[in-house]
Amino acid sequence: MLDRRFVCESIVEQTDPPVLISEADIQQRVLELAEQISADYADCDQLVLVGVLKGSFIFLADLSRALSIPRTIEFIAVSSYETGSVSSGAVRLIMDVRGNIENKHVLIVEDIVDTGHTLKYLLRIIHSHGPASVRTCTLLHKAECAEVDVDVDYIGFNIGDEWVVGYGLDYAERDRTLPYIGVITPDDR
Ligand code: IMP
Ligand code: MG
Repeated sequence: MLDRRFVCESIVEQTDPPVLISEADIQQRVLELAEQISADYADCDQLVLVGVLKGSFIFLADLSRALSIPRTIEFIAVSSYETGSVSSGAVRLIMDVRGNIENKHVLIVEDIVDTGHTLKYLLRIIHSHGPASVRTCTLLHKAECAEVDVDVDYIGFNIGDEWVVGYGLDYAERDRTLPYIGVITPDDR
C-alpha cells in the first residue's frame, strides 16, 4: 500500500511555480541580447563565453547559438548559497576555466546577479588570467538587492527581490529545467 505522506509530497512537487517571465519572452530577449553582443564584438575573432555553472547552462546554450560571431565556450563553477536561498556572502571557487583565456576577449555569462558578490569574485578570478577584455552578461538582475558595486554590461531582465527558478535556475536543485522563469517562496525566507 502507498504511504499517504509520499502521495501528498508527490502532488506538491507536481505543482509548477507561477510564471514571472514566459518562455516566449525569454527567447525573444535572448535573441535581442545576441544581436547586441554580435554587433558589439563584430571586429573580434576570439570571443570566449564563460558560463557560470550550474545556473547559466541553459541561457548559455541559447545565447551562444544565437550569436553570429566566432565564439568559444568555457565554464567556471562557484558556490555561495550552498543549498538554500540566503547568501552567505562568501564565494567559493569550485572549478576554474580550463582553456587559456590570456589575451582573449571574455564575456562572463551568469544566470542572475543578486547581491553581486559572486560576479565581483568571478571578475577577480577572470582578470587574474590576463584576458584582453572582460564584460559581463546576466539573464536576470535583482538591482534592489545589490550589496556590492559591480558593472553588468548586458542584462536580460530586471526583477524584484524574489526567488526565481527555471531556465537553469534552481532552488535546492529543484526546478532547473522549467522552460520559463517562475517564482517560489523558499522554506528559509
Ligand atoms: P549573488 O552573489 O548574491 O549575486 O548571487 C548570485 C548567484 O546566486 C547566482 O549566480 C545564482 O546562482 C544564485 N541566485 C541568486 N538569486 C537567485 C534566485 O532568485 N534563484 C536562483 N538562484 C539565485
Ligand atoms: Mg549563478
